[in-house]
Amino acid sequence: MTDLSEYRVRKEPFYQPQGHEVSLFAAAYRRRLPVMVKGPTGCGKSRFIEYMAWQLDRPLITVACNEDMSASDLVGRYLLDAGGTRWIDGPLTVAARLGAICYLDEVVEARQDTTVVIHSLTDHRRALPLDKKGELVRAHPDFQLVISYNPGYQSLMKDLKSSTKQRFAAFDFAYPPPELETEILVREAGVPAHVAAQLVCIGGVARKLKGHGLDEGISTRLLVYAGVLIQDGVTPQDACRMALVTPITDDADIRATLEHAIRATFV
Ligand SMILES: Nc1ncnc2c1ncn2[C@@H]1O[C@H](COP(=O)(O)OP(=O)(O)O)[C@@H](O)[C@H]1O
Ligand SMILES: [Mg+2]
Repeated sequence: MTDLSEYRVRKEPFYQPQGHEVSLFAAAYRRRLPVMVKGPTGCGKSRFIEYMAWQLDRPLITVACNEDMSASDLVGRYLLDAGGTRWIDGPLTVAARLGAICYLDEVVEARQDTTVVIHSLTDHRRALPLDKKGELVRAHPDFQLVISYNPGYQSLMKDLKSSTKQRFAAFDFAYPPPELETEILVREAGVPAHVAAQLVCIGGVARKLKGHGLDEGISTRLLVYAGVLIQDGVTPQDACRMALVTPITDDADIRATLEHAIRATFV
């Protein structure tokens, strides 16, 4: 049997709340409601779930979803080895059996025929049929399902079915307001507050370009990268170019706008 201790969040993760999301998530967990966190990439969704797992003292099993993932990757499969065939529980089954929080990260990346396997776990049944094995796993009382997704990437081809969406309590995440984001950079990158504020300022410029040539602005994650590089002695200009400009766009005009903001900020 899988040992859940490796899934314990041992140390308190640093999480800067943006509102009442901590107490609201705890309320959802008390009733074991499935939770969906929505928001752009790198805005703190995964960190929040990690923090909540720590706070609720539940093991956390995270699955990064992708297109090639099949229902068996979640549920489990028979493996053939020297001893014959044996059943191996997938991560969703392990979490349901043993009472972990199962976090399906970027769930829309998975195909819809994969995503439907979560349905029976997210309604009154709270059970997972292992068809190939002929077993019905009743979810442990502590089990909770959490999914994240980025509505920005949503297309008709890649969206959750309405029948899936309607099984979750949801949280909208966004990039933190400047004061909080500055605080996050100080904590996460170790930069002084004034440098953090300068980076946040550049983030603000990029986020205003969303829809005007940029699909998404600069994430908090990238601002942390820039901060870490600066902290290690890379010049702010180089750090910003590497972490904030080059990754997000190849458009010459947008790069020029961002370069300009960087030069104006770090004089
Ligand atoms: N509210 C927050 N508190 C603490 N760190 C944060 C917060 N928001 C973003 N971060 C930082 O940004 C990084 C990316 O956040 P993450 O949770 O991985 O984003 P995603 O929304 O893509 O899951 C984290 O590793 C952390 O350094
Ligand atoms: Mg994430």
